[in-house]
Amino acid sequence: MLLGTLSSQFGPLSGLLETRQLAVICSICLALILAWKCCRVETNPSKHGRLPHLALLTDEEIYDTPIQSMSRALRTHGSVVGFKRNGNIDYLVAKEHAQRVLTDESSFSFEGGLAGMLGITWIRHLHGGSFFRDIDGTMRAFSTRRMNHIVPEIWPLFEKAAESLVTNAGAGAVDIQPHLQQAMAEGTIKIFLSEKYNRADFKERMIKIATDIAYLTGLDPNRSFLSRKFPLLWHAVKVIHIALVRLPLNIGPSLAWELWVDISRDVQDYDPEDSTIFSYLSRRSTVKGDKLSFSAKLWNMVLVLTVMFGATHQTIVSMIWVTFFLAQHPDSQESIRKEASSITEAGGAFKLEGLHSAVLTDSFIREALRTKGDSVNAVRQSVQDVELDGFTIPKGSLVFPFTYQCYRDSDLMENANEFIGNRWVGTGKSATTTGLEYPAFGLGRWACPGRFLAINELKCWILALVARSRLELDGGKYEVMDAFNITACAPDGKLLVSRVEA
Ligand code: HEM
Repeated sequence: MLLGTLSSQFGPLSGLLETRQLAVICSICLALILAWKCCRVETNPSKHGRLPHLALLTDEEIYDTPIQSMSRALRTHGSVVGFKRNGNIDYLVAKEHAQRVLTDESSFSFEGGLAGMLGITWIRHLHGGSFFRDIDGTMRAFSTRRMNHIVPEIWPLFEKAAESLVTNAGAGAVDIQPHLQQAMAEGTIKIFLSEKYNRADFKERMIKIATDIAYLTGLDPNRSFLSRKFPLLWHAVKVIHIALVRLPLNIGPSLAWELWVDISRDVQDYDPEDSTIFSYLSRRSTVKGDKLSFSAKLWNMVLVLTVMFGATHQTIVSMIWVTFFLAQHPDSQESIRKEASSITEAGGAFKLEGLHSAVLTDSFIREALRTKGDSVNAVRQSVQDVELDGFTIPKGSLVFPFTYQCYRDSDLMENANEFIGNRWVGTGKSATTTGLEYPAFGLGRWACPGRFLAINELKCWILALVARSRLELDGGKYEVMDAFNITACAPDGKLLVSRVEA
């Protein structure tokens, strides 16, 4: 009608105008459709009920300033909001929903959430979908039950790492990461593998393998333009490059062969006292005295490599965070140094009892992990359409509780925004005690099973380091490398270290 009128009024120009009018009208329609699509999570409300608002967060806001932008989104739109990330719509929920999202397994899946977050959803289609359960069982068997034997083995490694750091520090600033990687690689070999793997070349390989897996699963601070703009393509290229090129190269033939030989041994070939991961997995996967199948061996290889990674990467990151906090608090260094010498005087060094009595160190670690600045650090996937606060989260979505609000909740603790090193001494809450105000290790059935090991390793490191040195941050600051993933990405910075005379 409009075009017909214009055409009759403008005679010879009518064709041109028609085209222009058409183009304008089409553009407006397209823009409206796009804007509408961008502002709505779903276009079928009858299928999903009332969908949460979509907060228009840019990649920079999500990855560089998540605390500010997520706080603003929740303030503006209510307690559940959607946001676009990596081409999908994820959901952010306020602290009042954190408990339910993290613990209600009938509505939210840990396995789906973690697989989705790490970009390894395919792993749930392998081996009957047992990946997370297998890793969970293995970690639990090793890290909690054997702590009495583990502590005397690993504490000297952190003494050695701290001594080498202080000796080599000189007047310049030092990077603590290589020292921690060496100690953690050796510790992991002692806990899970056997002495024959305690070789310099194997330790180097393990460090490289851990770096590869961190890169593969996105637990590294790489947020390049390409990875943000073309996430699916980027992910596909990355998986192929790491799985087919870097991992095989970094494992290398000799380590691969040693691992394969140990993985291939049958249950009856192991000494009943053998406490390596190989005998454990062999016992777990052998059915009624049968021989291990080729696929079972391959699966066990995947589990061994994952355990090696899981047991080192996250703990090293946390060690760096806590050490930087310590460098910023000379008063806490002083009191922890006193705690270290009283443990030694009481004969507790290198023993689990000694670590138990390090209550100040424990409190400092808990407080550093609480305040280091996480925005989100646990994720679940909705297993059905789930209603929260009148909004419906569609089935299959990744849901992130905004844990920043939990850590800083003034209803749960006084002066929640303040760092108080000895805050937790005498409260009955240790660095491993999970709770809504401290989701550093998650919450519920899937809370981190490695936390007892990780905290003991952290304590060994802090006690060993502070006993022999004073620390300062080079330039007085560190740089946050991935604000969206504080728990899994270490901050960048160097330390000025000076020896404390005994
Ligand atoms: C300070 C170091 C560590 C931190 C901050 C950490 C943090 C976490 C977090 C936040 C989760 C998710 C829990 C949830 O969503 O509810 C998790 C899960 C997990 N962590 Fe850790 N972790 C650490 C060290 C370790 C270590 C040393 C191991 C192994 C020995 C380990 C093994 C696991 C496993 C297997 C899971 C999956 C959950 C399960 O199987 O129950 N973690 N961790």
